Formats: sequence, structure tokens, C-alpha cells
Amino acid sequence: MAQPDAPIPQKPFKVCRLDAQDAAVYRDIRLEGLKNHPEAFGSSWEDESRKPDAWWAERLETSTVFGGWIDDSPLLGVAGFHAHTATKLRHKAVLWGMYVRIEGRGTGLAARLVQRVIEHARPLVEEICLTVVASNIAGKRLYSAAGFEPYGIERRALKIGEEYFDEVLMARPLREPCASAAPISIGD
Ligand SMILES: CC(C)(COP(=O)(O)OP(=O)(O)OC[C@H]1O[C@@H](n2cnc3c(N)ncnc32)[C@H](O)[C@@H]1OP(=O)(O)O)[C@@H](O)C(=O)NCCC(=O)NCCS
Repeated sequence: MAQPDAPIPQKPFKVCRLDAQDAAVYRDIRLEGLKNHPEAFGSSWEDESRKPDAWWAERLETSTVFGGWIDDSPLLGVAGFHAHTATKLRHKAVLWGMYVRIEGRGTGLAARLVQRVIEHARPLVEEICLTVVASNIAGKRLYSAAGFEPYGIERRALKIGEEYFDEVLMARPLREPCASAAPISIGD
């Protein structure tokens, strides 16, 4: 006789902000991502692998980077948040440095990290932007599922060796623009 379906156990994810004490594990995962997926990031392994330990600690003190774990795993994923500080840009922030190790892929951890960045951003800015290389199907699906919408393409955004990569620009509004925002008019 068929048994009733057992409830699917929820993965025990842990997502929290990294600090200077996490510098060594953050360096490892960040350099792994840069090395294995050079087209996925504007930064390069060649530049960041030369940085001293103090640089990594300082990055975690001055930037907001969330880390993700499953059960008692090592660090499996990271996602960064950067709010612009210039007066005319500070209504916007950037989601950057998204990376999930192979062992954490397909688990939902990536979506949890994106959601954590959105929660963090909500009281601080009106919109989060990001760029994703046009060939990155998993990345584009991940961001679309979290409410990001494409608004443009930057042709030849990255050049690695002699190869160019286009990037899709995506944004997720967090609240309605205030009344003073003028409607778009082309041709003024
Ligand atoms: C991008 C990344 C964070 C996504 O994490 P993930 O755990 O692979 O994400 P998910 O498994 O939740 O997959 C997201 C979506 O893409 C789909 N997908 C995953 N891999 C895919 C593949 N190779 N081809 C097509 N679709 C794929 C999934 O089915 C899912 O779609 P769905 O929600 O409609 O089912 C991860 O793949 C990664 O770190 N990649 C390398 C670095 C990178 O690209 N960073 C992003 C920089 S913008």
C-alpha cells in the first residue's frame, strides 16, 4: 500500500554577515570563485590573489558581505551589498560578489543569500542593481526569481584575454519612486 509522502525536511541554512575574523575563509571562497568563473566577476583572481591579509579583513569591515552555510558545512556561499554614498546615487545599491560553491548549488542557498541582501537593503535604499554575464543562465534565473528585472545590456562589458562578454543589467525596485521622479521623456 502506498505510504503517505513524508514531509520534505527543510535544509538548515545559516546566513549571516561576515566580519574581519572570517577573512581567511572569505579569501578562500572568493578566490575560488574568481579562478573558476572569471567571466562571472568584474574583479580578477590575478588582482585579488595578491592582496595582503589585512586587505581582506578591511574589506569585511568596510563592506557588507553575507556568508551562507548548510548544517555544519564550511562556508558555501557569499553575496555582497554595496550602497552608493554619493548624494545623487545613494538611493541605489549593488548586489555583487555572488558565489555558491558546487556543494551548495541547487540547494536553495543562493536564493537565501539573495533574499538576505534584499532584506538588508530594504530600509536603506530604493533599488538594488546588479550585472550578470549574458550567458549565465543560473544567475539570471536566480535573480529573476528574486524579482530582479533586466533593463539593458552592456555590450563587451568584460574582456578576458581576447574574448569579450556582454552583461545584462538587472534591477529590483524596493519601493515606489517618490512623487518628484519625472516620467521618462525621450527627445528633450
Ligand atoms: C549563480 C549561482 C550563485 C547560482 O546558484 P545555484 O545554487 O546554482 O542556483 P540554483 O540551483 O538555485 O539555480 C537557479 C536557477 O537556475 C537554474 N539552473 C541552475 N544551473 C543551471 C544550468 N546549468 N543551466 C540552466 N539552468 C540552470 C535552476 O534550475 C534554477 O532555476 P529555477 O529556479 O527556475 O528552477 C551559482 O551557480 C554560482 O555561484 N555560479 C558561479 C558564480 C556566478 O555565476 N556568480 C554570479 C555572478 S552575477
